[in-house]
Amino acid sequence: MRHLIDITDLTRPELDALLALGLEMAEHPAAFAHRMDGRILATLFFEPSTRTRLSFESAMLSMGGSVLGFSEASSSSATKGETVGDTARMAACYADIIAMRHPREGAAMMAALCSDVPLINAGDGGHAHPTQTLTDLLTLLREKGGIDGLTIGLCGDLKYGRTVHSLIHALGYYEGVKLVCISPQALRLPEYMGEAGRDWHETERLEEALPALDVLYMTRIQRERFDDPAEYERLKDSYVLDAAKMALMRPDAIVLHPLPRVNEIASEVDSDGRAAYFRQAKNGRYIRMALLDTLLSGALEARPLAGADIRHDRPCQNVKCITAATPGARHMAAPHGDGWRCLYCESAV
Ligand code: NCD
Repeated sequence: MRHLIDITDLTRPELDALLALGLEMAEHPAAFAHRMDGRILATLFFEPSTRTRLSFESAMLSMGGSVLGFSEASSSSATKGETVGDTARMAACYADIIAMRHPREGAAMMAALCSDVPLINAGDGGHAHPTQTLTDLLTLLREKGGIDGLTIGLCGDLKYGRTVHSLIHALGYYEGVKLVCISPQALRLPEYMGEAGRDWHETERLEEALPALDVLYMTRIQRERFDDPAEYERLKDSYVLDAAKMALMRPDAIVLHPLPRVNEIASEVDSDGRAAYFRQAKNGRYIRMALLDTLLSGALEARPLAGADIRHDRPCQNVKCITAATPGARHMAAPHGDGWRCLYCESAV
């Protein structure tokens, strides 16, 4: 059995096979109408979602399966103090596969360690969002015909934006991809992303970056992750893509956004053919069909979530880690380079 907690849980050949299946499903969805007959997906959403939850549910339903779950923490036993591990254990009694979103970093890993069925990370705090990345990659393939050699601008909240973290990791699989990280100083990528990109540079100025880009990936400033509301107010209008800025972009460039947008893309951009974000959202359904099928068909070779070299004597100091919110949590540190990282949230320990 395999889970999907981080995009790098997939090897390059596994990722390629999944994307190929996603392309096929996007072109001939009806051919897969009975692929999930009798299967049940549990969607455990402790945090708001529109696209991710609905596209997971749509994916399961359109392949003949069924769905159950909750869309806010207040309607689950989390309000009674149940841990994510126990909630996942319970869901695994009632469903064949789980998609889980949680506001705490590392929550999906903690849940997966307790789950007897495949568990998919549908977003864990400001940490990772691998299925959005699968959506993004399928969109790049469909819109640009390939990913190698693209120059991709990532703009906005690179610190808390979990979609960009997972996307950067995935782009490491491709050749010659150039990354331009466009953010205010205060919202630069977190330290643990340091070695993930091979060819990138950082800038604060969107206009200067635009002419060279094949793809502009806009993101929302993640209000819910800020400790200080005044800091959010200061940064919330950092970048607004409008028609005047679109004029600086190449005619064959595309604009992506995981959505929801707030004000970082003016609605006047929507009618520009290069605005691909609604097509991107639609791709989320097809790639999630492919993912459910791949995880439930046993197509992936089984692999343990943690290696044998885990240490329990290095507690995680990240206050946003799931361990900080779980009474009696067992800390797990995994070796990384010269040091150690929390197995759940990846921060250095
Ligand atoms: C993103 C998320 O939840 O991280 N949304 C999504 O899943 N499409 C982006 C965001 O909320 O800004």
